[in-house]
Amino acid sequence: MANQTQQMIIPAESILPNRLVIVPITGKPMFPGVFTPVMIRDRDDIAAIEQAISSDGMIGLVLTRTEDVEQATGDDLHTVGTAAKIAKRINLPDGGYNIFISTVKRFRIKKILHTATPIVAAVEHLEDVNDTSDEVKALTRSLISEMKQISENNNLFSEEMRLNMVNIDHPGKIADFITSILNIDRAEQQRVLETVDVYERMELVLVHIKREQELLRIQKRIQSQINEKIEKSQREYFLKEELKAIKQELGMPTDSKSGEYQRLSEQIAELDLKGEVKEQVDKELEKFNLMDPNSSEFQVTRNYLDTIVSLPWKEPERRQVDIGKARSVLDSDHYGLEDVKERILEFLAVRKLRNDFKGSIICLVGPPGVGKTSVGRSIAAALGKEFFRFSVGGMRDEAEIKGHRRTYVGAMPGKIIQGLKIVQTRDPVFMIDEIDKLGVSYQGDPSSALLEVLDPEQNVSFRDHYLDLPFDISDILFIATANTLDSIPLPLLDRMEIIRLAGYIDEEKIAIATRYLIPRSLERAGIGKRQVTYTKKALRSIANDYAREAGMRNYEKALDRIHRKIARSIVMEEASPPFKLDVPDLERYLGKPVFV
Ligand SMILES: Nc1ncnc2c1ncn2[C@@H]1O[C@H](COP(=O)(O)OP(=O)(O)OP(=O)(O)O)[C@@H](O)[C@H]1O
Ligand SMILES: [Mg+2]
Repeated sequence: MANQTQQMIIPAESILPNRLVIVPITGKPMFPGVFTPVMIRDRDDIAAIEQAISSDGMIGLVLTRTEDVEQATGDDLHTVGTAAKIAKRINLPDGGYNIFISTVKRFRIKKILHTATPIVAAVEHLEDVNDTSDEVKALTRSLISEMKQISENNNLFSEEMRLNMVNIDHPGKIADFITSILNIDRAEQQRVLETVDVYERMELVLVHIKREQELLRIQKRIQSQINEKIEKSQREYFLKEELKAIKQELGMPTDSKSGEYQRLSEQIAELDLKGEVKEQVDKELEKFNLMDPNSSEFQVTRNYLDTIVSLPWKEPERRQVDIGKARSVLDSDHYGLEDVKERILEFLAVRKLRNDFKGSIICLVGPPGVGKTSVGRSIAAALGKEFFRFSVGGMRDEAEIKGHRRTYVGAMPGKIIQGLKIVQTRDPVFMIDEIDKLGVSYQGDPSSALLEVLDPEQNVSFRDHYLDLPFDISDILFIATANTLDSIPLPLLDRMEIIRLAGYIDEEKIAIATRYLIPRSLERAGIGKRQVTYTKKALRSIANDYAREAGMRNYEKALDRIHRKIARSIVMEEASPPFKLDVPDLERYLGKPVFV
């Protein structure tokens, strides 16, 4: 009886058997002082558990040396493990068990008695050494405070864990507990398990705690960096949305810039540019994309790109010159001028044989009103080309021809590029009016700019200052007009083929007036074609008494004045058509003769 009582107060540890059924574990080692459920599914393990239950209910849990052992034998095991008591067993439907174990104490395998299922080993139980020294107490304190720091910053550590830690009485057990909850790999944990000296064990654990703290710190830093980034982009997003909303509220276009960029880049892609031009334009486009839409630079660059987009970059299609058709167009537009028409047709014939218009400049010379402009227009019509006319009379600045550099405020391309933008083809007829009245000034010589434009050597890659890109203008047919040849700069004169238009005699004037000017003037005044007729004497009188000149300019003006007055009298119902005008009627409309 006495013996029995004695046995009852002896703690379980001291009656631990020296022979244990071993259950190999592959995950992480188990430390003493834990009560935990364990699933047993493996057939070998089931057999081991059954054998243990049938004797004293004790097992030894030992970590395998490597993680991926399938059927562990005695050789695969570490030598230090933990003895555990099976407190309860629940049978699972699949034949396995859920057992509750209470781990008790470390042991060392002295000898494997049975190496295959179930493994049985002779063991020696291990006491914690050095558990009560002052150093250990001091270490315990710092261990707990360090752990507190970690657990406060990490919600993986539950309140229960924290309480647990404070309530454990033995320093060695505290070290074990902390090891089991820290994220340490299995080999390190096994090392802690094998360290029987508590002071050493605590030192080991302290190192792991420090490492864990370091990890947490890094993790925190990364987290805050990420948060910062997210916050920044969210802030930007909200501000942009707000801006959009404000703009919408004010009726401003919301994302005009990206829209503009989209439009321009599509249009530019369609131009199919090549080489230097493509490179430059693409660069400009990318710059544009990065600009602040409210900056003045943005407007300037947009205008520039708009100009690029609106120019005719496409190679013109080569058309055959139809001399017969040209002849009939010239004839139907102009009376007389036989030698002029002849010269023009010769000129066209030569170009037809050469199959291009490169380097060809016609200069029509004659007094005002003899039909220079209208012959030029007629040439364009005869060739089926677009017509653009500009005057260089009084021009002093070469920038008017070659443009301003883009750095100037309000810079624009010169007349040549402007004209191409309007006609939208690269091979139009350009009329340069009043080339004899070209000015000279300190702002650069327009005549040398003009020379550059007309020079077939240079105009293949004409460089407008504004555009700052080579543009091929060699397919343009230039026609210049002048009243005299005296004041045309010699280098220009040398390049041109001169065609003279002399003045008209009265008979010619009467014919031109009858066939061309009167019908056109009547139309301009809104009067029917046959409602106004003239006697021949009246027509001659206009030429002699009112418009005594080589050309038809004043003659045409006189007719316009007459017709406007007639139109007025018709509207006022003072008179009604038809009107037949003779010499005495003229004074009523034109006043007293100018020339007597
Ligand atoms: N031979 C002609 N046949 C038909 N119309 C003509 C003829 N000559 C001149 N005209 C007409 O006379 C008017 C004046 O001609 P245009 O404007 O072409 O003269 P211009 O030589 O260009 O004068 P300027 O030197 O002043 O520019 C135009 O309406 C033109 O159609
Ligand atoms: Mg003219």
